[in-house]
Amino acid sequence: MTDTVDDVELPYDEGASMQKKIEALQERLEVLESQNEEMRDKLLDANAENNKYQQKLERLTHENKKLKQSPLFVATVQELNDDGAIIKQHGNNQEALTEVTDEMREDLSPDDDKSPEVTFADIGGIEEQMDEVRETVEMPLISPGMFEDVGIEPPSGVLLHGPPGTGKTMLAKAVANETDATFIKMAGSELVHKFIGEGAKLVRDLFELARQEEPAVVFIDEIDAIAAKRTDSKTSGDAEVQRTMMQLLSEMDGFDDRGDIRIIAATNRFDMLDRAILRPGRFDRLIEVPNPDAEGREQIFKIHTRSMNIADNVEFADLAAEIEDASGADVKAICTEAGMFAIRDDRTEVRMDDFHDAWEKIQQDETEDENVSKTFA
Ligand SMILES: Nc1ncnc2c1ncn2[C@@H]1O[C@H](COP(=O)(O)OP(=O)(O)O)[C@@H](O)[C@H]1O
Ligand SMILES: [Mg+2]
Repeated sequence: MTDTVDDVELPYDEGASMQKKIEALQERLEVLESQNEEMRDKLLDANAENNKYQQKLERLTHENKKLKQSPLFVATVQELNDDGAIIKQHGNNQEALTEVTDEMREDLSPDDDKSPEVTFADIGGIEEQMDEVRETVEMPLISPGMFEDVGIEPPSGVLLHGPPGTGKTMLAKAVANETDATFIKMAGSELVHKFIGEGAKLVRDLFELARQEEPAVVFIDEIDAIAAKRTDSKTSGDAEVQRTMMQLLSEMDGFDDRGDIRIIAATNRFDMLDRAILRPGRFDRLIEVPNPDAEGREQIFKIHTRSMNIADNVEFADLAAEIEDASGADVKAICTEAGMFAIRDDRTEVRMDDFHDAWEKIQQDETEDENVSKTFA
Protein backbone atom coordinates (compact mmCIF):
# COMPACT_ATOMS: atom_id res chain seq x y z
CA MET A 1 0.00 0.00 0.00
CA THR A 2 1.05 3.56 -0.63
CA ASP A 3 2.46 5.57 2.23
CA THR A 4 1.23 9.07 1.61
CA VAL A 5 -1.45 10.66 -0.47
CA ASP A 6 1.12 12.17 -2.78
CA ASP A 7 2.30 8.73 -3.82
CA VAL A 8 -1.00 8.28 -5.57
CA GLU A 9 -0.60 9.89 -8.95
CA LEU A 10 -3.63 11.76 -10.15
CA PRO A 11 -4.10 11.30 -13.87
CA TYR A 12 -5.11 14.89 -14.72
CA ASP A 13 -3.83 14.77 -18.24
CA GLU A 14 -6.28 15.19 -21.07
CA GLY A 15 -6.32 11.59 -22.05
CA ALA A 16 -7.15 10.08 -18.73
CA SER A 17 -10.60 8.71 -18.51
CA MET A 18 -13.06 9.81 -15.87
CA GLN A 19 -13.03 6.25 -14.54
CA LYS A 20 -9.27 6.42 -13.94
CA LYS A 21 -9.60 9.72 -12.15
CA ILE A 22 -12.30 8.41 -9.84
CA GLU A 23 -10.25 5.32 -9.02
CA ALA A 24 -7.22 7.44 -8.21
CA LEU A 25 -9.26 9.71 -5.95
CA GLN A 26 -10.77 6.72 -4.18
CA GLU A 27 -7.31 5.38 -3.57
CA ARG A 28 -6.30 8.73 -2.07
CA LEU A 29 -9.37 8.67 0.13
CA GLU A 30 -8.47 5.24 1.48
CA VAL A 31 -4.98 6.40 2.31
CA LEU A 32 -6.35 9.41 4.12
CA GLU A 33 -8.79 7.31 6.09
CA SER A 34 -6.16 4.90 7.30
CA GLN A 35 -3.90 7.80 8.22
CA ASN A 36 -6.74 9.35 10.11
CA GLU A 37 -7.25 6.16 12.09
CA GLU A 38 -3.58 5.93 12.89
CA MET A 39 -3.58 9.50 14.21
CA ARG A 40 -6.59 8.81 16.34
CA ASP A 41 -4.80 5.85 17.92
CA LYS A 42 -1.79 7.98 18.66
CA LEU A 43 -3.95 10.68 20.15
CA LEU A 44 -5.62 8.17 22.45
CA ASP A 45 -2.24 6.84 23.56
CA ALA A 46 -1.03 10.36 24.25
CA ASN A 47 -4.16 11.08 26.24
CA ALA A 48 -3.68 8.03 28.37
CA GLU A 49 -0.06 8.96 28.95
CA ASN A 50 -1.12 12.47 29.85
CA ASN A 51 -3.59 11.13 32.38
CA LYS A 52 -0.94 9.01 33.95
CA TYR A 53 1.39 11.97 34.37
CA GLN A 54 -1.43 14.14 35.65
CA GLN A 55 -2.15 11.60 38.38
CA LYS A 56 1.49 11.34 39.26
CA LEU A 57 1.70 15.12 39.45
CA GLU A 58 -1.28 15.24 41.77
CA ARG A 59 0.17 12.59 44.01
CA LEU A 60 3.49 14.35 44.22
CA THR A 61 1.90 17.74 44.84
CA HIS A 62 -0.12 16.21 47.65
CA GLU A 63 2.92 14.53 49.16
CA ASN A 64 4.90 17.72 48.86
CA LYS A 65 2.18 19.66 50.64
CA LYS A 66 2.08 17.13 53.44
CA LEU A 67 5.83 17.25 53.87
CA LYS A 68 5.72 21.03 54.12
CA GLN A 69 3.20 20.93 56.98
CA SER A 70 4.74 21.48 60.34
CA PRO A 71 4.61 18.46 62.58
CA LEU A 72 2.29 18.45 65.57
CA PHE A 73 3.62 19.44 68.94
CA VAL A 74 2.39 20.21 72.40
CA ALA A 75 2.12 23.93 73.14
CA THR A 76 0.47 26.37 75.49
CA VAL A 77 -1.40 29.44 74.33
CA GLN A 78 0.39 32.57 75.54
CA GLU A 79 -1.70 35.25 73.97
CA LEU A 80 -4.71 35.58 71.69
CA ASN A 81 -4.83 38.52 69.31
CA ASP A 82 -6.29 39.54 65.95
CA ASP A 83 -3.54 37.81 64.01
CA GLY A 84 -3.99 34.50 65.76
CA ALA A 85 -2.52 32.87 68.81
CA ILE A 86 0.99 33.06 70.15
CA ILE A 87 1.89 29.63 71.36
CA LYS A 88 4.86 28.39 73.27
CA GLN A 89 6.16 25.02 72.32
CA HIS A 90 7.00 22.74 75.16
CA GLY A 91 10.43 21.24 75.29
CA ASN A 92 12.32 24.01 73.55
CA ASN A 93 10.15 26.93 74.71
CA GLN A 94 10.02 28.35 71.21
CA GLU A 95 7.27 30.85 70.61
CA ALA A 96 5.33 30.95 67.40
CA LEU A 97 2.34 32.77 65.98
CA THR A 98 -0.24 30.45 64.56
CA GLU A 99 -3.52 31.02 62.78
CA VAL A 100 -6.66 29.99 64.63
CA THR A 101 -10.05 29.36 63.12
CA ASP A 102 -13.06 31.07 64.69
CA GLU A 103 -14.30 27.76 66.06
CA MET A 104 -10.97 27.13 67.73
CA ARG A 105 -10.81 30.63 69.12
CA GLU A 106 -13.87 29.97 71.27
CA ASP A 107 -12.11 27.08 72.95
CA LEU A 108 -8.86 28.87 73.62
CA SER A 109 -7.73 31.23 76.28
CA PRO A 110 -4.24 32.30 77.21
CA ASP A 111 -2.17 30.16 79.52
CA ASP A 112 -4.90 27.70 79.93
CA ASP A 113 -4.64 23.98 79.80
CA LYS A 114 -8.31 23.84 79.17
CA SER A 115 -10.14 22.70 82.28
CA PRO A 116 -13.62 21.97 80.99
CA GLU A 117 -16.65 23.05 82.94
CA VAL A 118 -18.11 19.65 83.84
CA THR A 119 -18.50 18.95 87.56
CA PHE A 120 -19.32 15.80 89.50
CA ALA A 121 -22.83 17.15 90.03
CA ASP A 122 -23.40 16.93 86.26
CA ILE A 123 -22.88 13.19 86.25
CA GLY A 124 -25.73 10.85 87.08
CA GLY A 125 -26.16 7.17 87.82
CA ILE A 126 -22.53 6.18 88.22
CA GLU A 127 -21.76 7.13 91.83
CA GLU A 128 -19.70 4.05 92.56
CA GLN A 129 -17.46 4.66 89.58
CA MET A 130 -17.19 8.32 90.45
CA ASP A 131 -16.11 7.51 94.00
CA GLU A 132 -13.55 5.04 92.76
CA VAL A 133 -12.07 7.53 90.32
CA ARG A 134 -11.85 10.17 93.00
CA GLU A 135 -10.24 7.76 95.41
CA THR A 136 -7.60 6.62 92.96
CA VAL A 137 -6.95 9.84 91.08
CA GLU A 138 -7.80 12.73 93.36
CA MET A 139 -6.70 11.33 96.71
CA PRO A 140 -3.08 10.65 95.83
CA LEU A 141 -2.86 14.18 94.40
CA ILE A 142 -4.44 15.86 97.37
CA SER A 143 -2.80 13.84 100.10
CA PRO A 144 0.13 11.83 98.80
CA GLY A 145 1.38 11.54 102.40
CA MET A 146 -1.48 9.21 103.25
CA PHE A 147 -0.28 6.60 100.82
CA GLU A 148 3.27 6.95 102.02
CA ASP A 149 2.21 6.57 105.64
CA VAL A 150 0.23 3.45 104.90
CA GLY A 151 3.05 2.21 102.75
CA ILE A 152 1.24 1.48 99.51
CA GLU A 153 1.57 2.95 96.10
CA PRO A 154 -1.58 4.31 94.52
CA PRO A 155 -2.38 2.77 91.15
CA SER A 156 -0.55 4.71 88.47
CA GLY A 157 -3.19 4.42 85.84
CA VAL A 158 -6.94 4.15 85.88
CA LEU A 159 -8.75 2.77 82.89
CA LEU A 160 -12.41 3.62 82.37
CA HIS A 161 -14.16 1.24 80.06
CA GLY A 162 -17.72 0.54 78.97
CA PRO A 163 -20.16 1.16 76.14
CA PRO A 164 -20.17 4.55 74.38
CA GLY A 165 -22.03 7.48 75.90
CA THR A 166 -21.94 6.39 79.53
CA GLY A 167 -20.00 9.37 80.87
CA LYS A 168 -16.37 8.22 80.79
CA THR A 169 -15.01 11.31 79.10
CA MET A 170 -17.24 13.43 81.27
CA LEU A 171 -15.93 11.78 84.43
CA ALA A 172 -12.33 12.52 83.50
CA LYS A 173 -13.22 16.14 82.73
CA ALA A 174 -14.93 16.48 86.10
CA VAL A 175 -11.80 15.21 87.84
CA ALA A 176 -9.86 17.86 85.95
CA ASN A 177 -12.27 20.53 87.03
CA GLU A 178 -12.45 19.61 90.66
CA THR A 179 -8.79 19.17 91.40
CA ASP A 180 -6.16 21.85 91.21
CA ALA A 181 -3.99 19.60 89.14
CA THR A 182 -2.96 20.50 85.62
CA PHE A 183 -5.13 18.54 83.26
CA ILE A 184 -3.63 17.34 80.02
CA LYS A 185 -5.99 15.73 77.59
CA MET A 186 -5.13 13.83 74.46
CA ALA A 187 -7.32 11.66 72.26
CA GLY A 188 -5.75 8.40 71.15
CA SER A 189 -6.72 9.20 67.59
CA GLU A 190 -4.66 12.40 67.75
CA LEU A 191 -1.62 10.33 68.60
CA VAL A 192 -1.92 8.27 65.46
CA HIS A 193 0.09 10.00 62.79
CA LYS A 194 1.49 9.22 59.43
CA PHE A 195 5.01 10.29 60.11
CA ILE A 196 7.34 7.83 61.71
CA GLY A 197 8.07 8.66 65.31
CA GLU A 198 5.64 11.54 65.52
CA GLY A 199 3.09 9.80 67.75
CA ALA A 200 5.85 8.61 70.09
CA LYS A 201 7.27 12.12 70.21
CA LEU A 202 3.89 13.58 71.13
CA VAL A 203 3.57 11.07 73.98
CA ARG A 204 7.04 12.04 75.18
CA ASP A 205 6.21 15.77 75.01
CA LEU A 206 2.94 15.17 76.81
CA PHE A 207 4.60 13.51 79.78
CA GLU A 208 7.40 16.04 79.76
CA LEU A 209 4.74 18.71 80.12
CA ALA A 210 3.06 16.73 82.92
CA ARG A 211 6.36 16.50 84.79
CA GLN A 212 6.91 20.23 84.42
CA GLU A 213 3.43 21.08 85.60
CA GLU A 214 2.90 18.48 88.31
CA PRO A 215 0.64 17.74 90.05
CA ALA A 216 -0.96 16.74 86.79
CA VAL A 217 -3.59 14.44 85.41
CA VAL A 218 -2.91 13.02 81.99
CA PHE A 219 -6.09 11.90 80.30
CA ILE A 220 -5.88 9.71 77.22
CA ASP A 221 -9.30 9.34 75.70
CA GLU A 222 -10.06 6.58 73.16
CA ILE A 223 -6.88 4.79 74.10
CA ASP A 224 -7.83 1.86 71.88
CA ALA A 225 -6.57 3.92 68.93
CA ILE A 226 -3.00 3.37 70.09
CA ALA A 227 -3.31 0.35 72.32
CA ALA A 228 -5.21 -2.15 70.23
CA LYS A 229 -4.12 -5.76 70.08
CA ARG A 230 -1.43 -6.53 67.57
CA THR A 231 -3.10 -7.58 64.38
CA ASP A 232 -1.73 -10.03 61.84
CA SER A 233 -1.21 -7.42 59.19
CA LYS A 234 2.29 -6.08 59.47
CA THR A 235 1.77 -2.80 57.71
CA SER A 236 3.99 0.14 58.57
CA GLY A 237 0.97 2.01 59.99
CA ASP A 238 0.60 -0.70 62.60
CA ALA A 239 4.27 -0.53 63.45
CA GLU A 240 3.99 3.20 63.98
CA VAL A 241 1.01 2.77 66.30
CA GLN A 242 3.00 0.12 68.16
CA ARG A 243 5.85 2.57 68.67
CA THR A 244 3.46 5.13 70.09
CA MET A 245 2.10 2.59 72.53
CA MET A 246 5.59 1.44 73.55
CA GLN A 247 6.45 5.04 74.33
CA LEU A 248 3.34 5.34 76.48
CA LEU A 249 4.22 2.15 78.34
CA SER A 250 7.75 3.29 78.98
CA GLU A 251 6.50 6.66 80.25
CA MET A 252 4.16 4.86 82.64
CA ASP A 253 6.86 2.48 83.80
CA GLY A 254 9.23 5.37 84.30
CA PHE A 255 7.40 7.15 87.08
CA ASP A 256 9.22 6.82 90.32
CA ASP A 257 7.42 9.70 91.94
CA ARG A 258 3.95 8.32 91.61
CA GLY A 259 2.22 10.93 93.74
CA ASP A 260 2.27 13.73 91.27
CA ILE A 261 1.17 12.46 87.92
CA ARG A 262 -1.99 10.43 87.53
CA ILE A 263 -3.10 8.86 84.32
CA ILE A 264 -6.68 8.26 83.30
CA ALA A 265 -7.54 6.52 80.08
CA ALA A 266 -10.91 5.70 78.60
CA THR A 267 -12.11 3.28 75.97
CA ASN A 268 -15.33 2.00 74.47
CA ARG A 269 -13.48 -1.02 73.16
CA PHE A 270 -12.02 -2.85 76.13
CA ASP A 271 -12.06 -6.12 74.20
CA MET A 272 -9.66 -4.67 71.64
CA LEU A 273 -6.95 -3.57 74.07
CA ASP A 274 -3.52 -5.10 74.11
CA ARG A 275 -3.18 -6.81 77.49
CA ALA A 276 0.31 -5.34 77.90
CA ILE A 277 -1.18 -2.05 79.06
CA LEU A 278 -2.97 -3.85 81.90
CA ARG A 279 0.20 -5.14 83.57
CA PRO A 280 0.91 -4.10 87.16
CA GLY A 281 2.15 -0.54 87.47
CA ARG A 282 0.34 0.49 84.32
CA PHE A 283 -3.44 0.64 84.04
CA ASP A 284 -3.93 -1.61 87.01
CA ARG A 285 -7.19 -0.13 88.16
CA LEU A 286 -10.01 -0.98 85.81
CA ILE A 287 -13.29 0.80 86.29
CA GLU A 288 -16.24 -0.38 84.29
CA VAL A 289 -18.75 2.34 83.46
CA PRO A 290 -21.96 0.58 82.37
CA ASN A 291 -25.17 1.94 80.94
CA PRO A 292 -27.28 3.49 83.71
CA ASP A 293 -30.13 1.58 85.35
CA ALA A 294 -33.63 3.08 85.54
CA GLU A 295 -32.78 5.08 88.62
CA GLY A 296 -29.62 6.36 86.99
CA ARG A 297 -31.53 7.34 83.85
CA GLU A 298 -33.99 9.27 85.96
CA GLN A 299 -31.15 11.14 87.60
CA ILE A 300 -29.57 11.92 84.24
CA PHE A 301 -32.93 13.22 82.97
CA LYS A 302 -33.05 15.57 85.92
CA ILE A 303 -29.52 16.77 85.29
CA HIS A 304 -30.08 17.55 81.63
CA THR A 305 -33.46 19.24 82.12
CA ARG A 306 -32.25 21.54 84.89
CA SER A 307 -32.44 24.61 82.72
CA MET A 308 -35.38 23.47 80.61
CA ASN A 309 -38.94 24.67 80.92
CA ILE A 310 -40.69 21.41 81.82
CA ALA A 311 -44.48 20.91 81.98
CA ASP A 312 -46.02 19.57 85.19
CA ASN A 313 -47.12 16.35 83.56
CA VAL A 314 -43.56 15.18 82.86
CA GLU A 315 -42.64 12.15 84.98
CA PHE A 316 -38.96 11.34 84.68
CA ALA A 317 -39.33 8.07 86.58
CA ASP A 318 -41.84 6.88 83.98
CA LEU A 319 -39.67 8.03 81.11
CA ALA A 320 -36.63 6.34 82.61
CA ALA A 321 -38.54 3.08 82.90
CA GLU A 322 -39.63 3.30 79.27
CA ILE A 323 -36.20 3.76 77.73
CA GLU A 324 -34.48 0.54 78.68
CA ASP A 325 -30.91 0.14 77.35
CA ALA A 326 -30.55 3.88 76.79
CA SER A 327 -27.15 5.36 77.59
CA GLY A 328 -26.47 8.64 79.37
CA ALA A 329 -25.77 10.21 76.00
CA ASP A 330 -29.14 8.90 74.74
CA VAL A 331 -30.92 10.54 77.68
CA LYS A 332 -29.16 13.80 76.93
CA ALA A 333 -30.14 13.51 73.26
CA ILE A 334 -33.79 12.83 74.23
CA CYS A 335 -33.87 16.03 76.31
CA THR A 336 -32.48 18.17 73.49
CA GLU A 337 -34.75 16.56 70.90
CA ALA A 338 -37.81 16.98 73.16
CA GLY A 339 -36.98 20.67 73.33
CA MET A 340 -36.85 20.74 69.53
CA PHE A 341 -40.34 19.19 69.31
CA ALA A 342 -41.68 21.91 71.58
CA ILE A 343 -40.05 24.62 69.44
CA ARG A 344 -41.47 23.12 66.24
CA ASP A 345 -44.87 23.25 67.90
CA ASP A 346 -44.29 26.89 68.83
CA ARG A 347 -44.33 26.16 72.57
CA THR A 348 -41.84 27.17 75.24
CA GLU A 349 -42.89 24.41 77.62
CA VAL A 350 -41.70 20.85 77.05
CA ARG A 351 -44.35 18.17 77.62
CA MET A 352 -44.33 14.42 78.25
CA ASP A 353 -45.30 13.72 74.61
CA ASP A 354 -42.28 15.67 73.39
CA PHE A 355 -40.05 13.26 75.29
CA HIS A 356 -41.88 10.26 73.82
CA ASP A 357 -41.60 11.66 70.30
CA ALA A 358 -37.94 12.43 70.91
CA TRP A 359 -37.14 8.87 71.99
CA GLU A 360 -38.98 7.49 68.97
CA LYS A 361 -37.08 9.77 66.62
CA ILE A 362 -33.72 8.91 68.17
CA GLN A 363 -34.34 5.18 67.90
CA GLN A 364 -35.40 5.65 64.30
CA ASP A 365 -32.26 7.66 63.51
CA GLU A 366 -30.16 4.98 65.14
CA THR A 367 -31.64 2.17 63.05
CA GLU A 368 -31.19 4.29 59.94
CA ASP A 369 -27.55 4.84 60.85
CA GLU A 370 -27.08 1.13 61.33
CA ASN A 371 -28.59 0.42 57.93
CA VAL A 372 -26.37 2.99 56.32
CA SER A 373 -23.24 1.53 57.87
CA LYS A 374 -24.37 -1.91 56.77
CA THR A 375 -24.71 -0.69 53.20
CA PHE A 376 -21.23 0.78 53.26
CA ALA A 377 -19.61 -2.11 55.10
N1 LIG B 1 -23.72 9.43 83.46
C1 LIG B 1 -24.04 10.54 82.80
N2 LIG B 1 -24.60 11.59 83.44
C2 LIG B 1 -24.94 12.71 82.77
N3 LIG B 1 -24.77 12.88 81.45
C3 LIG B 1 -24.21 11.87 80.75
C4 LIG B 1 -23.81 10.66 81.38
N4 LIG B 1 -23.28 9.84 80.45
C5 LIG B 1 -23.33 10.51 79.30
N5 LIG B 1 -23.89 11.73 79.44
C6 LIG B 1 -24.10 12.73 78.38
O1 LIG B 1 -23.59 12.20 77.17
C7 LIG B 1 -22.49 12.96 76.69
C8 LIG B 1 -21.41 12.03 76.17
O2 LIG B 1 -20.86 11.30 77.25
P1 LIG B 1 -19.33 10.88 77.29
O3 LIG B 1 -18.79 11.14 78.63
O4 LIG B 1 -18.60 11.53 76.15
O5 LIG B 1 -19.45 9.33 77.00
P2 LIG B 1 -18.28 8.25 76.84
O6 LIG B 1 -18.54 7.26 77.92
O7 LIG B 1 -18.49 7.66 75.49
O8 LIG B 1 -16.97 8.96 76.98
C9 LIG B 1 -22.04 13.79 77.86
O9 LIG B 1 -21.46 15.00 77.44
C10 LIG B 1 -23.33 14.01 78.63
O10 LIG B 1 -24.05 15.08 78.07
MG1 LIG C 1 -15.62 9.23 75.48
